[in-house]
Amino acid sequence: MTAVDTVEIIRAKRDGHRLTDDQITWFIDNYARGGVIADEQAAALAMAIFFRGMQSDELATWTRAMVDSGSRLDLSGVGRPTVDKHSTGGVGDKITLPLAPLVAACGVAVPQLSGRGLGHTGGTLDKLESIPGWRAALSNDEMMRQLEEVGAVICAAGDGLAPADKKLYALRDVTGTVEAIPLIASSIMSKKIAEGTGTLVLDVKVGTGAFMKDLERARELAETMVALGKDADVRTTALLTDMSTPLGLTAGNAVEVAESVEVLAGGGPADVVELTVALAREMLAGAGRDDVDPADKLADGSAMDVWKAMIRAQDGDPDAELPTAKESHVVTAPSTGVLTRLDAMAVGMAAWRLGAGRARKEDPVQAGAGVVWHARPGDEVTEGQPLMTLLTDEPERFERALASLEGGYDVEPAGSAYEPGPILLDRIS
Ligand code: URA
Repeated sequence: MTAVDTVEIIRAKRDGHRLTDDQITWFIDNYARGGVIADEQAAALAMAIFFRGMQSDELATWTRAMVDSGSRLDLSGVGRPTVDKHSTGGVGDKITLPLAPLVAACGVAVPQLSGRGLGHTGGTLDKLESIPGWRAALSNDEMMRQLEEVGAVICAAGDGLAPADKKLYALRDVTGTVEAIPLIASSIMSKKIAEGTGTLVLDVKVGTGAFMKDLERARELAETMVALGKDADVRTTALLTDMSTPLGLTAGNAVEVAESVEVLAGGGPADVVELTVALAREMLAGAGRDDVDPADKLADGSAMDVWKAMIRAQDGDPDAELPTAKESHVVTAPSTGVLTRLDAMAVGMAAWRLGAGRARKEDPVQAGAGVVWHARPGDEVTEGQPLMTLLTDEPERFERALASLEGGYDVEPAGSAYEPGPILLDRIS
């Protein structure tokens, strides 16, 4: 094929045709390597896929080509089954932090290659970096050693995994083509397949604070990713979980680490515990270890032991004090009654604007920034009581954070009906 064929490929998808396997592999390979396909051509193809979609076998070829654009980890040397979890991203979603050591405490190895946050959803690595000394970058040898010795590793994905996705994702981000199901599914699954895990559990978030605002689209995304996993011989299941309300009582970096440690110590907010245990059960079942109950490993302290070992192995001090923000601002309840709604997107935007997240990938984040809420939907509140505390090192950020919380919560008169919705909405296998 020649460069001239690039236009043919774009035209074919624009007109709604299935791309051939040769067209797909040629396109992905050359775009990843650079020099032949211009960014505007890749952007045009992404937009054509956005509108025309992809057939399932076409998408499987596309995903395989993205995996083949880089290296693949070989985890076969790890002496236990391997299982990973991926969340499509939510507000207050610190679940990976207690989950990885919990599943490792149950006898299954957890290689969790994570990313940094962009936009209103936080990043696992940003959260862990608030622990003094902790380092995200590990060599492959260090990662393998930690998997064998500790059983769990959360670290940065190296540049060699699915490089086609790195280029394509950056391009989609600036061309309005992120929200296409085939492109999201192939982007996530190419990285997870390249990582080499045997089993994968997907936590597909649904609601205002998630990519997917409604259940039908979330189900379609989950089904697409599960099919891609199976095609690549990765045992894959998905849970669809609520993200209209933020998880737990904190959104930010150090504040989420502290809440995760509470869960590992046997406490913590009920929704965080419920989701952590549900995902752990799903991961263990996939790895053939459903004889172990993760709730027992939280209660007996063994998950906490793995957490401490996991943090120490990456030069962090699990007993060190976590950083705190220099400034705080309390938002009080506007009236007496019941908190009937706390919107995930509003809280996520506020945490982001306080400095917990970044607008561009090279921006720094503040370890102490974030939002702590003191009531959850369903709780009774009294006028003037603290509802939320906003945290930042830079007080000039409060105004914009407060603006994003406007209209983000409702307090209704005492006795108003409030029906809590379930966290677990569906399971796809
Ligand atoms: N996360 C990814 O890794 N890729 C997407 O396309 C969307 C979310």
